[in-house]
Amino acid sequence: MNIRLYFALWPDDGIRLQLARYRLQLAREGNGRGVFPVTLHMTLAFLGEIDTTLVPVIEKIASRLEAAPFNYVVNMAGCFPKARVAWLGAKETPWHLFELQKSLRSQLAAAKLGHDTRIFRPHITVVRDLEKPFADRAITPVSWPVDQFCLVAARHGPTGPEYEVLKTWPLRS
Ligand code: 2AM
Repeated sequence: MNIRLYFALWPDDGIRLQLARYRLQLAREGNGRGVFPVTLHMTLAFLGEIDTTLVPVIEKIASRLEAAPFNYVVNMAGCFPKARVAWLGAKETPWHLFELQKSLRSQLAAAKLGHDTRIFRPHITVVRDLEKPFADRAITPVSWPVDQFCLVAARHGPTGPEYEVLKTWPLRS
């Protein structure tokens, strides 16, 4: 049996609420569909469809990872016109985020796992099916203290994708 998996940063409810404020505004502006606030996240590594027997291997890789916590200041909104999504992100990506993402992907690749062919462009998707792209712009900053990462399962639900956080690991200095 297969399961669709990815590693992500998953904001807590307080940060989620602050980020969710932008989705309707940007959806209206870009004539798109705001994502459900409960699904807001940043993907670190996309695994795709994985045999469930490999989940323990994936969890072991995550548990061995050594990465430091960091603060992610969400201060930009923009879009990927080809993917027709609008996103929130940071003008300056913290070095520790790149470190976390790089070591995760390299450990997964060493285990012949991972489906990421895209360059890592850290973002939180807030609108899908965007019709009118807009230029990147600054937004009122939301300071997100990131001290954990998680493994998420994606399923097709009746109203769109449904995500379940399967397991979380702490980031330690
Ligand atoms: P997106 O938000 O930019 O669309 C679950 O689908 C998560 O995995 C989403 O955050 C999505 O990014 C990301 N994702 C989906 N397909 C992907 C792929 N082929 N490569 C990398 N990331 C992907």
